[in-house]
Amino acid sequence: MPRQRRIETDLGAALSAALPDLDRLREAADGAALYLVGGAVRDLLLGRPRGDVDVVVEGDAAVVARRLGGDAIEHERFSTAKAALGEVEIDLASARAESYPEPGALPEVRPAGLLEDLARRDFTVNAMALPLQGEPQLIDPHSGRPDLQAGLLRVLHERSFVDDPTRALRAARYAARFGFELERRTAELLREADLAKVSADRRAAELLRLASEPEGARGLGLAAEWGLLHLRHGADKLLPAVDALIRQPPWSEVAARPRAMLVAALGPVGREAELAAARPQRPSEGVELARGARSAELVLARAMGGEWLDDYVREWRGVTLEIDGSDLIAAGIPEGPKVGQGLQEALKRKLDAEIEGRDAELEAALAAARGEE
Ligand code: CTP
Repeated sequence: MPRQRRIETDLGAALSAALPDLDRLREAADGAALYLVGGAVRDLLLGRPRGDVDVVVEGDAAVVARRLGGDAIEHERFSTAKAALGEVEIDLASARAESYPEPGALPEVRPAGLLEDLARRDFTVNAMALPLQGEPQLIDPHSGRPDLQAGLLRVLHERSFVDDPTRALRAARYAARFGFELERRTAELLREADLAKVSADRRAAELLRLASEPEGARGLGLAAEWGLLHLRHGADKLLPAVDALIRQPPWSEVAARPRAMLVAALGPVGREAELAAARPQRPSEGVELARGARSAELVLARAMGGEWLDDYVREWRGVTLEIDGSDLIAAGIPEGPKVGQGLQEALKRKLDAEIEGRDAELEAALAAARGEE
């Protein structure tokens, strides 16, 4: 069993700290009932600050957002809107119920009360609400608080993963982030989650969210353990290696961490093994080898031991000539393949520090183009 967690008890104080501008939000609601919901309540109880919160309005979320001013963005279909409250970004939503026309499809939405809104959610720890007017008394119809304390992820009903299989990946995300475990029945149900029923876009978005977590390597590992993903061969070593590499320059500039983590976990397999094993003797040889490699391939190859790639991404790949094709044409080389060959040879020699400066480049390029080498 995971360890017991300390749960915040002074919710009034926690709320004021999390939402310093709460009075402005109350004014904007103009009497409509407001509730903090979802991950925001979970994190408040865990004492974890966050920069965005979800608020449910029993009324028109768009109207409240408009009254808050700023850049409210309204999404018609889900009656949701974004607004800023000081430093905190608020996702406002009209309370709604959902039904799933078919497994994995986007839900159909209709207006409803708070309790129905909580009942449509993924896990008990995400299905609590805190009223933002009057006494801040936790509304917890699905017993999320004891699950939170015990560190358990529990679905609200048996069809949860059938309705929305992405919840299985969300479970891996929360398990990795908080060290939560799956409650026994939830673990059984999760095994039946069929991610193939979800559109490729939604699946990819959820995988990227999982990979973005600070504990993304662990999350992807858990998802694989649970039968949701097939890891590529060697992923267990590759994931931590990529994770360590990608957090600092120069590699943090080469590829986005979530994408690199996903390729480390799932593939596709490219030329990384070849690049990792190579030992170029000269910079020009390294540039030749790495030409056309995608960023993720470079990161993976470095994580697999291709140390020469540090030089490649820091220096070699940024080396360019001061001259260009027009200089060769002006010097009498006819337009055509000879121009390219000349430039390529000059670049190679510049990379290998055999020449330096514009004149030397032009001389080397002309010699190569004229076949004087
Ligand atoms: N939710 C859900 N099922 C989903 C997606 C979302 O039930 N497939 C609900 C959950 O109650 C969740 C809330 O919508 O807490 C907000 O969704 P999201 O922002 O994705 O979750 P957070 O828990 O806020 O995630 P994070 O902490 O990573 O911001």
